[in-house]
Amino acid sequence: MKLFRFQLRFLLPVVITLTVASLLAFPAMEALTQRWFSRDLNLRGSLLASAMSESINKAVSAEHADRLRPLFERTLKDERLAALGLCGPDGTLLLTTPEYPVELSCSQANALAGVTPPRLVTETGSFHVATHQIPLDSGLNAEIILLHDLSFIERRTLLSRQYFVIFVVSLGLIIALTVVVSAQLSWNTWMKGIRGVLLRQDVVRTPKTPAPPEIPADFAADIRAQLRDLEDEYRRKQGGDEYWTAARLRSLLRTQLRGDQVIVVSNREPCIHDWVDGNIVAHSPASGLVTAIEPVMRACSGTWIAHGSGSADAVTADGYGRLALPPDSPEYTLRRLWLSKEEEAGYYDGFSNSGLWPLCHLAHTQPVFRETDWQLYRSVNQRFADAVIAETRIDDPVILVQDYHLALVPAMVRKHLPRATVISFWHIPWPAPETFEICPWHAEILQGLLGSTILGFQTRQHSQSFIQTVDRLLEARIDHEHSVVWFHDEGTLIESYPISISWPAMEAHEPSIQHTGIRQQYAPNNSKIIIGIDRLDYIKGIPERLAALEHLLERHPEWIGKLVLLQVAAPSRENMPDYQAFKSRLELQVQRINTRFGKPGYQPVHLLARYHSHAEIQALYRAADICMVSSLHDGMNLVCKEFIAARDDEHGVLLLSQFAGASRELPEALSINPYHVENMSGSILKALLMPEAEQRERMASMRMTVREANVFRWAGRMLTDASRQRLRRRVEQRVRRYHKA
Ligand code: G6P
Repeated sequence: MKLFRFQLRFLLPVVITLTVASLLAFPAMEALTQRWFSRDLNLRGSLLASAMSESINKAVSAEHADRLRPLFERTLKDERLAALGLCGPDGTLLLTTPEYPVELSCSQANALAGVTPPRLVTETGSFHVATHQIPLDSGLNAEIILLHDLSFIERRTLLSRQYFVIFVVSLGLIIALTVVVSAQLSWNTWMKGIRGVLLRQDVVRTPKTPAPPEIPADFAADIRAQLRDLEDEYRRKQGGDEYWTAARLRSLLRTQLRGDQVIVVSNREPCIHDWVDGNIVAHSPASGLVTAIEPVMRACSGTWIAHGSGSADAVTADGYGRLALPPDSPEYTLRRLWLSKEEEAGYYDGFSNSGLWPLCHLAHTQPVFRETDWQLYRSVNQRFADAVIAETRIDDPVILVQDYHLALVPAMVRKHLPRATVISFWHIPWPAPETFEICPWHAEILQGLLGSTILGFQTRQHSQSFIQTVDRLLEARIDHEHSVVWFHDEGTLIESYPISISWPAMEAHEPSIQHTGIRQQYAPNNSKIIIGIDRLDYIKGIPERLAALEHLLERHPEWIGKLVLLQVAAPSRENMPDYQAFKSRLELQVQRINTRFGKPGYQPVHLLARYHSHAEIQALYRAADICMVSSLHDGMNLVCKEFIAARDDEHGVLLLSQFAGASRELPEALSINPYHVENMSGSILKALLMPEAEQRERMASMRMTVREANVFRWAGRMLTDASRQRLRRRVEQRVRRYHKA
């Protein structure tokens, strides 16, 4: 249809031109033909007149004009000659043939012969009028009038008009046919060329795609440049790269993804409801994943599928496990998925947290892989995938799969929704290939993840490790230039997207707490406050942090009584014996330090092993002089970014483990090695003595980084890449359709 319209654009001017040309040409052609015939008849007439002149001279001179009658009748045998008349020198009609119109006098005939065309129309027909002088012996002139029948001319004109129409129509048809055929041919070549250019640029091209036809390199480069310009133009319209906001993310969804359906799937839910002393209490879990995804979901208004893990979760959701969040001004839907105790033990405590978690974190905890855990991991992943499929309203939704709990979901979803855009994000580090090989089901995990359109990691190093792992453990083709892994004819873009927090911070739905209260409670003598805000997890380097503090107080006793560590340890994975044992060890260590350096009214370490609300955490961030992040290994760590965001007074020092993903983005923090106790205690001392101006300078710079690289940018970059993939697929499909048509 489009091609037809395209061809019509060429054909219409041709048809119009031909019609106008014909309309203009007809009268001109007829006038010309008439002139030619007229000239021809005049010539013939003068020949006749000269042939008859002698006979006429004799007869008229002898005043016996009627003797000429036989001659006139013979002459009339010429089929085109209709009538003859003879005028005497005095202008009277001397002789006429029977067909001669009685009303035509000699003077009238002379007058008609002088005009163009010399035409007489009577009841019997139309005639060409010509007069010729015949010299007489008397010196006077007689005149012969010749009337030629014009009907033959009219017949010929009609005939030539018909020929002309046939000629114009045939010409039009030939032109139309030539235009259609050549347009079709050049359209095909053009589309092949464009397709070639697009495919060569398209990272989701399958290896089976036939090689596109060659088109001139200059031309291809030109098209690519045009596409890039369009893309840049579009991005400029979207706003610069510096400030991503919830509004900009929303508009990206509406424009680039045309408001397509967004579904997030993760193990951890953003809001847990528990029964506490007969009341239902809601709290938000300590999870970097939740911190990051929640504001994105608020901006995108989609559905978030997650494990309903709270004891009061079932009673706070509807019959389908759904509830609108946040409760006071709903912006998205949480769809809870229920797991049995057995499923939770095998899939969550078992394969995810006893197997993959220690495998991916270099924290020297041996991973445990059990066949029964794997079976449950697989079946629970299938249940999450089924829930995603059940929630989709369109065949190409955007599905954001979160983390190591759901590694098999991308391929499971892809199987049912081949047109879906599956963006998976691996929040924790990706280990070296030889480490990942330890997992007995490494191939299945890799294949599951490669069901994604985009697979994101926190750092470039993690994404490179993933590609190396695939290279070593799977039969797949790797396009290193574009960072695409091809497996079973499907391409997955492997990219790093450092996760972050919302900026400006999302409004807390709870009254804010004054940080001065914290100072009064824990640091009455104007002591310096170090905070540590972590889940109670062995990867967070909490014992190492305590050891560094102990070392400092030991070497610099002047700080005893002037320095406290407030360590928040949010309960985590409490059913797991390893985590229970870890908690007990930590409590003993804290006790020992407090016994060693504590004195009446002074306790160097406060272990706050309970959930803290958002407001409480914010107050701690603001009360602190130092925030310590000493993870042994961490995908990103969002605590450091939250601390920076909370410090609009530009005061406070961040100590950041060199093994946390965030250290790549925040070089202004004091970098620490949690395995090196002297290094850490030295850094604490440096932080304690850091001049105000230096603190301000470092904090201002870090705030700039976090403000720009916020979570909306994280999601925005992934969704932009996804929408580009979708656009390319759509263009490719359209080009294929045109190509087939
Ligand atoms: C890490 C993981 C998240 C997880 C969080 C809390 O950040 O990447 O997926 O939600 O830890 O752990 P939990 O087991 O309590 O969900």
